[in-house]
Amino acid sequence: MHAGDHFEVPPQDGRTYLITGSNAGLGYFASEKLARAGAHIIMSGRHPNRLAAAHDALEARVPGASVETLILDVANPGSVRSAAASLRGGLFDRRRLDGVIFNAGIVHTPRERTLTRDGRELVFSTNALGHFVLGAELLVSLARSATPRHTPRMVWLGSMSTRMGAYRPTDVQLEEKYSAWKAYVQSKVAVQALGFEADARLRDAEVPVESVVAHPGYAIGGRTETITGVNEPSRWKRFRDSLQAPIATSKETGAEAIVRALVDPEISGGEYWGPRMFGGGTERQRPSATSLDPELRTEIWERCEQLSGETWPFAKAARGRR
Ligand SMILES: NC(=O)c1ccc[n+]([C@@H]2O[C@H](COP(=O)([O-])OP(=O)(O)OC[C@H]3O[C@@H](n4cnc5c(N)ncnc54)[C@H](OP(=O)(O)O)[C@@H]3O)[C@@H](O)[C@H]2O)c1
Repeated sequence: MHAGDHFEVPPQDGRTYLITGSNAGLGYFASEKLARAGAHIIMSGRHPNRLAAAHDALEARVPGASVETLILDVANPGSVRSAAASLRGGLFDRRRLDGVIFNAGIVHTPRERTLTRDGRELVFSTNALGHFVLGAELLVSLARSATPRHTPRMVWLGSMSTRMGAYRPTDVQLEEKYSAWKAYVQSKVAVQALGFEADARLRDAEVPVESVVAHPGYAIGGRTETITGVNEPSRWKRFRDSLQAPIATSKETGAEAIVRALVDPEISGGEYWGPRMFGGGTERQRPSATSLDPELRTEIWERCEQLSGETWPFAKAARGRR
């Protein structure tokens, strides 16, 4: 059951996973697949009503699912820290944390440069920086959940766009020149670079946590089934998206590589996974050279430390292993 074949999610009973941005899209379907396999799912999102609707949909579609919700706005460092604190509090006497999918993201980026409340460029803050902060906040909990049979994982959401004119994110705040496409691509190059750098640093520090990068191919709502409160494309969107059928899949199919990156015991930290171009299924792939560049990886990592004021507690996480 490896490179390139169809992957069945193995039983996940007893495992707990957190997924950011799980009220819609890939995050919702990743949650559903993991819940179906028996995992306990912490669905998170920034909006209580949207999150509640997705929670209800999941419970209706997966009878007996074990799922809870957590308000977490990745573009707001205060929200990330308080969500992580409440998660740690709950984990202390209740559950383990076997993995996290850093999924939340802005795909349809604003035309004009937009800032978060704390003055950071919105797309980079949502897609990359917020997850950098969340990773720092959850690292010790993840490491403490390691067992001889399971190494907890974090999965970062990369993108094929990183191969198309890969912007080298030297100006992560896009202060010099902004474009919607550039904001997206450079944030995804940064996400991939962070994912690979995290794995290298985890290994160096001997922390029992792995970091894997995965991408969904091109997955769109109009090719995805209608689920009330989760995916309700208009007829016009369905029509438009149907024109892209040769190159696009559903969000449900797109979620396959992401879930596999989280749970396939044969995958190792530092790998890059995505859908096969032909014939379905998922496979290990080669990421863009830019996101692998050690100099860039260090640069992005340090920039995130500087912008967020967070450093990952590698030494504490290594000491905390059981
Ligand atoms: N679809 C693709 O073809 C594709 C390709 C490559 C990579 N990706 C990546 O996959 C991830 C999910 O994409 P998708 O296609 O599923 O997009 P989507 O359908 O637009 O869903 C995005 C999810 O992220 C959430 N989100 C956005 N900003 C947030 C914030 N500040 N805090 C918390 N949650 C937030 C959204 O919540 P709201 O409902 O509150 O907005 C939603 O749940 C993204 O990281 C994207 O870059 C997607």
